[in-house]
Amino acid sequence: MVNKTTNRYPISSLIENRWSTRAFSGSKVEEGKLNSILEAGLWAASAFNEQPWRFIVGRKGSETYDKILSTLVEWNQRWAGKAGVLVLNIAKNTFTHNNKPNATCNYDLGQAAAFMSIEAVNQGLCSHQMSGFDAQKAAEIFNINRGYNIVSVTAIGYYGDAEELPADMQKSENEERSRKNFNTMVFTGKFEN
Ligand SMILES: Cc1cc2nc3c(=O)[nH]c(=O)nc-3n(C[C@H](O)[C@H](O)[C@H](O)COP(=O)(O)O)c2cc1C
Repeated sequence: MVNKTTNRYPISSLIENRWSTRAFSGSKVEEGKLNSILEAGLWAASAFNEQPWRFIVGRKGSETYDKILSTLVEWNQRWAGKAGVLVLNIAKNTFTHNNKPNATCNYDLGQAAAFMSIEAVNQGLCSHQMSGFDAQKAAEIFNINRGYNIVSVTAIGYYGDAEELPADMQKSENEERSRKNFNTMVFTGKFEN
């Protein structure tokens, strides 16, 4: 299930073993494991400890799952429907203590989503975040008002068989993961525009 990569420096094996699979098995995810993943998200840091993240959780076989799936772009629908869980990731865009705009609400939500993806690995599961979905449609389906940003969807589930994926998705599933060069991203002193 591990999609190997080559690190320049050693990192936690949970981070090393996280990757965005599309080859989910179709199996359901145990409620306890799902709750641990969500719990991990809730322990992310956030500005003023606002905890702006909100999650609509759809377990496979439920109406909520089908509704979230229906918001995905066609490409994502072709693989994400075999994930055990689909989560709609939402951020409250104002601070509760003063009603002012929360400029880092999406950033904070992203941290929660990242924590969840790491905890998924810890639970023996895989995840795949997506921005390829129709946020307006999600707002209408779930009656979400403009005080919330509907940012992404995360698929969570057990790893399946890459050979069962549509042919055009198999190559990337089996490819070695890559990252840009460390030195082009990390600076000391002079920033390179
Ligand atoms: C915010 C966000 C949006 C993404 N949207 C999609 C998507 O719509 N469809 C898709 O197949 N992958 C999507 N991805 C997955 C990325 O393509 C993937 O994370 C990237 O290629 C790096 O691969 P890795 O996660 O295995 O390290 C998204 C990832 C993030 C974090």
